Amino acid sequence: MTLDIDRLRAETPGCAHVLHLNNAGSALPTRRTLDATLDHLRLEAEIGGYEAADHERTRLDAFYPSIATLIGAREDEIAFVENATRAWDLAFYTLAERYRPGERILTCVSEYSSNYIAYLQVARKTGVEVVAVPDDNTGQIDVAALANMIDKRVRLIAINHVPTQGGLVQPAAAVGRIAREAGVPFLLDACQSVGQMPIDVEALGCDFLSATGRKYMRGPRGTGFLYARRVAYEKVEPIFLDNHAARWTTSGEYQVVPDAKRFENWERYFAGVLGLAAAADQCVALGMEAVWARIKTLADGLRARLSTLKGVHLADLGALKGGIVTFSVDGVDHTDIKAKLRAQKINCSVSTRFSSRLDLEGRGLKDVVRASVHIYNTEAELDRFVAALDAARR
Ligand SMILES: Cc1ncc(COP(=O)(O)O)c(C=O)c1O
Repeated sequence: MTLDIDRLRAETPGCAHVLHLNNAGSALPTRRTLDATLDHLRLEAEIGGYEAADHERTRLDAFYPSIATLIGAREDEIAFVENATRAWDLAFYTLAERYRPGERILTCVSEYSSNYIAYLQVARKTGVEVVAVPDDNTGQIDVAALANMIDKRVRLIAINHVPTQGGLVQPAAAVGRIAREAGVPFLLDACQSVGQMPIDVEALGCDFLSATGRKYMRGPRGTGFLYARRVAYEKVEPIFLDNHAARWTTSGEYQVVPDAKRFENWERYFAGVLGLAAAADQCVALGMEAVWARIKTLADGLRARLSTLKGVHLADLGALKGGIVTFSVDGVDHTDIKAKLRAQKINCSVSTRFSSRLDLEGRGLKDVVRASVHIYNTEAELDRFVAALDAARR
C-alpha cells in the first residue's frame, strides 16, 4: 500500500501550523483521533461521565481488539494503562516481588531512565543484581553475549525495542528467542516502536510489552497499554489490585479477573481510550509496512542531509535504524538550537543523560539533538529543517 501524503497532511491539523520533528516526543494526531477524544469529553460534559461511558460501551470495548490487531495479540491480553512507564512498571514490579539476592536482571545499555531507576530500587530492596548486556560493534545489544550470560541466576530479560535517544532498533526478536529457550520472562519496552514499525508479539517472543499512545501511534497524551501474554498473566497477580482488577467475592476473599484487565484501574481516561483506539485503527488501516518504509526513507534522507553539514555529527547506533535521528553540533548549546528552531515553529528535542545515562555517558555525550520523523513529514520539510538548523548554529 502506498501512502497518500497530501491526504495524510490534510487529515492532520497540526501540519498546517508546525514543522514537527518531535514525533518521538509526541506526534501529531489525526482529526479522527482528535474528534474521537473530544466527542467523548463533550458527551461526558453533556450527559454525565458514567452515563457517557455506558452510552459508548461498545466503542470502549472495541479498544481491546483494536490494540490486539495492531500487535498480533489476543484481546484478553491487552490492558489500558495511562502511559508506557506505568504499563512497564505493572509488569516489572509484579515480577520483581519474587526476586532474591544474587539473582539477575539482564538489560541493555540503551535502557530508559525510568526503567533503570526501577531496577535500582528493586535491587536495593531485594539484592537482585542488574546487569547491562554489552553492545556489539554496531551499538545494538550483543545477542551472542546475552546468550552466554544465561544461567540459573537470570530471572528477567528486559530491554527497549527502540531507545528514546536514537535511531537504534534493537534485535528484539533474537532476544525473545533466547529468553524463550531459557524459559526466562522477556519484558519489552516498545514505547518508541509501536506505531513506527510492524509489531508482532509472537515474532518478538515477549511475555510483556509496554507502549504509549502519544508517540508513534499518534494517540492522545495520558494513554498507553500493556500487553501481557496469556500464559504469563495467568501466572501472576498484579502488584496492585482494585475493584476492577479483582472482584470482592465474599467479605474475606477476592478473585482476580480472568484477563489482562487485572492490570487496569477502575477509573480511566475514557476519552483517551477512544482516542487511542482510533489511532490504533488508523495505524492498521494505513498498513504498518507502508508506515515503516516511509519513516525509514525520511529518516535516512534526514541523516544524509545532516551528514553534509560540517561540524554536525550523527549519533544513531545500530545495524537497523528507524525514525529517530540524533546528532551533535559543534560549538553550540543544543538546548539553544532547539529554542531557536521552536521560535520558527520547527519542533525537535534534546535527549540528555537524564533519559539514558548508561548509553550517553558511555559514549561521552552530554546530550544530542533529536529530530524524529513521521509519515506526514515531507522532503521539503527536511530541507527546511536542515537550512534552519544551519542558520541557527551560526
Ligand atoms: C524507550 C522509552 N521507554 C519509556 C518511555 C516512557 O514513556 P511514557 O512517558 O509514556 O511513560 C519513553 C519516553 O520517552 C521511552 O522513550
